[in-house]
This record gives sequence, C-alpha cells and structure tokens, in this order.
Amino acid sequence: MVEAVRVNLQREFESPEARANPIPVYAKLRKLGLVLRSPALYGESFVLPRYEEVVSVLKDPRFANDRRNVPGGTSLDRWWVPAILRMLVSSMVLKDPPDHRRLRNLVQKAFTPLMVDKMNGRVEQITEELLDAAARKPVVDLMEEFALPLPLTVISEMLGVPEPDRLSFRKLITKVLDPAAMSPLAFIRNYPYMLQLNRFLRRLVKLRRDQPGDDLVTALVQAEEGGDRLGEDELISMVFLLLFAGHETTVNLIGNGMLALVQNPGQLQKLREQPDLIDSTIEELLRFTNPVGQVAPRFAKEDVEIAGVRIPQSSTVTLLIASANLDEAAFPNADTLDITRTPNRHVSFGYGIHYCLGAPLARLEARVAIPALLRRFPRLDLAVPAEKLRWRPNIGLRGLEALPLSVSPAGSAAERSAA
Ligand code: HEM
Repeated sequence: MVEAVRVNLQREFESPEARANPIPVYAKLRKLGLVLRSPALYGESFVLPRYEEVVSVLKDPRFANDRRNVPGGTSLDRWWVPAILRMLVSSMVLKDPPDHRRLRNLVQKAFTPLMVDKMNGRVEQITEELLDAAARKPVVDLMEEFALPLPLTVISEMLGVPEPDRLSFRKLITKVLDPAAMSPLAFIRNYPYMLQLNRFLRRLVKLRRDQPGDDLVTALVQAEEGGDRLGEDELISMVFLLLFAGHETTVNLIGNGMLALVQNPGQLQKLREQPDLIDSTIEELLRFTNPVGQVAPRFAKEDVEIAGVRIPQSSTVTLLIASANLDEAAFPNADTLDITRTPNRHVSFGYGIHYCLGAPLARLEARVAIPALLRRFPRLDLAVPAEKLRWRPNIGLRGLEALPLSVSPAGSAAERSAA
C-alpha cells in the first residue's frame, strides 16, 4: 500500500497570490501525489487532485454524500453546529438515494433545457436593463452592477422572492456560509444571522402558501400539501439550496469569465470576430476559471483503494474539481485559455447523480450575458492593476469582490444593433 502525502489545503490557498492565481497551487498538489491527506473542518480528509480519480469517485456508489449512511455518525452532528444550520444545509446535495432522487424529482422539470430555454427572453430583458444602467458610467464594477444582479434576479423570479428581499437574502447567506467562520465561536457569533435567514425562508413559504403564484416555491408548497413526501424542513432547505446555488455560482462564472477574457485579449478578439464560438467559450470559461473549486465531501461506505492508497471506511474524501479541470493528462495545454477547445469534458458541474441541476440555466445566463457585454462595450479594460483585484476568501466558490472595468459603450442604439 502507498501512503498518502500530507498537505494542508487551507494553508496552500491562504496567501493573496494563491487566491488570485490558484493554478500553480493545483499543479503542485497534482505533482505531490494521486491521493493526498489534509486536515479538514471535521478531522482529516483524503484529497484527490487529478481528473481520473475525481471522476471515478463521483461515479462510485461506494461513496456517500450523506454521512448518516456511513458508520460513525453524522458530519454535522457536532455540539457546536447549530440545529438551524444543520436543517438549512440538509438539502439534496447531502443526500443519497432514495431520498436524493425523491427531492431532485420534485424540482427537476423546472430546470430541463426546454423549460430553461423559455426564459431566454426574460434573461435578455434583465441583461439589457442592467447594461443600460452600467453604460452611463466610464468605469463599471461588473460584479455589483451586472454579474450579481443578473442571476440573483433570474433565480428570485423563478422562486417568487419579492424584489425588496433579494439583496438582504444575499447578505444573510454571505454571513451564514462564510468559510472563514467555520469554528464554534464563529457559529455562535453568526447565530442571529442564521435565525434571520430561517425566518426569511419561512416567511417566503408562508407568502406563497397564502398567495400562490406561478413560481417554484408555490409548486413546492403544493407538492408538500399534496402529500408528495416533502416535509416542512425539507422544503425550507430546498428553497435555500436553489436560491443559494442558483446565483452564487453563476455570478462567478460571469465575473471570473469576463476577467479571463479581458486578460487574454487574443481570445476576446477571436470571440468578437466569431460570435458563434460562444458555446465552446462558456465551456472553456467553466473549465479554466472554476467558479466552484470542489464538490461536497464524499464519505467511504466501505474500505476502498485508490491509486494504491487505502481509504478506510467512513473516511472523508475531498474532490478538487478545479484541479481536475487543469490536469494536463485530461486537457492538453490545460493552463491555457482556448475558447475553441473541443472536446472539453470539464467537471465544473460535477458528474454522476449529483450533476448540477442548474447547468442549463447557468449556461443560458452566460450565453446571453457575455455576448451582450461584448456588443455593448467595444472596449473593455481592467480599470485597476490586476494585483489590486480582491478575491473572496472562499476557494470552494472562487470569485471576485469587485471587478472594475473601463468601458467604452457603443454609442447609439443603431450602432448597438449593427454590432
Ligand atoms: C456556473 C454555475 C454553476 C456551477 C459551476 C455549479 C456547480 C455545481 C456542482 C459542481 C454541483 C455538484 C455538487 C456535488 O456533486 O457535490 C452542483 C450541484 C447542484 N447545483 Fe449547480 N452550479 C452552477 C449553477 C447552478 C444553478 C444556476 C442552479 C439553479 C438552481 C444550481 C443548482 C444546483 C443544485 C440544486 C445542485 C444539487 C444537485 C444534486 O445534488 O443532485 N446550480 N452544481
């Protein structure tokens, strides 16, 4: 048997340089070994940095997402993890079949490519409104004025969240899921925000129970009332998951993606000249900029051997999808942004039964947003030196605090439609 090499993942990524450019850190991890070992939030975790092993675990039924299906207790059952947080995060991502299938089936049909395509017009409308406001300024913070409000508005409309509540929801989840706050003391400090978030979600469910609308929360409330085996806590946690996953990730696809294009002017120019490269561009931005760095932890249901390393039953395994996406063995010239790359079997949306439910929606938003930005702004440049860009501390969800861009808008409406 081979010994797993020990690392400290948190330390590897804590410097501002690593946050700004994690590519060398992932390269180092892949070089260190096929299976690594690192301290983690709940003890220790095996860490997989390479494509082949990541994909093989994602499709291996010997690994569970729900720690309760593994001997040795539940991951969140620590005395210091508040019950509300446990409830909020007990969504389908942390469930195994048959619970996982039952929950996913309840919402799956709202996110099929066919259903999502029907939203194209509305996504275009929101995009144009946001760009109208942004185009009045010489410097735009793309995150605040575009990358955040677009997906937040889309998912809020899908779920029926009233407009005045949207930004307050966003602020609350940023507090509650702050990765820098994963300690007993921080949990106690953040407890009031968890209570507020719980109240916000229950108010939303009550609103849609009292005033049904043509939205997903209403559909879920009706499923619960129709005896469709959906408990109240499950409903709350589902709404939380959809609202959270529905925007927090796409924000970073648009933000990180636009930064990557601006920093690779040759690729940006190619896309301007060949707009039909948009689909392969989006796949490449998903691969190269990795808005989601790692999937939910997996737990070994039995002893498993990976690349000669024994992973004992009940062990936690961390799958670095961002690193898998940069693995030379799977992607030639992996460190280079190539918007024509085909095939492009990235794992940015995961793989297997937990494959991202919102992938069609994320792709649609990016397919509308990026070409609209390029049409509206014939010139896009970073308004600050790249070293001054601030990255959010969460490497699991990689994104910028702000992205100031100097823009030169296409002057008239006629010019715009000609572009
Ligand atoms: C660029 C945007 C996005 C990325 C990179 C992304 C990434 C992912 C990944 C990697 C997973 C798998 C998690 C795991 O296996 O542990 C996942 C699951 C999921 N995503 Fe996304 N996501 C994105 C957008 C969205 C959107 C717009 C929604 C809309 C609601 C969404 C909803 C979900 C849900 C509900 C799951 C859980 C699926 C399951 O457990 O069966 N995601 N996503």
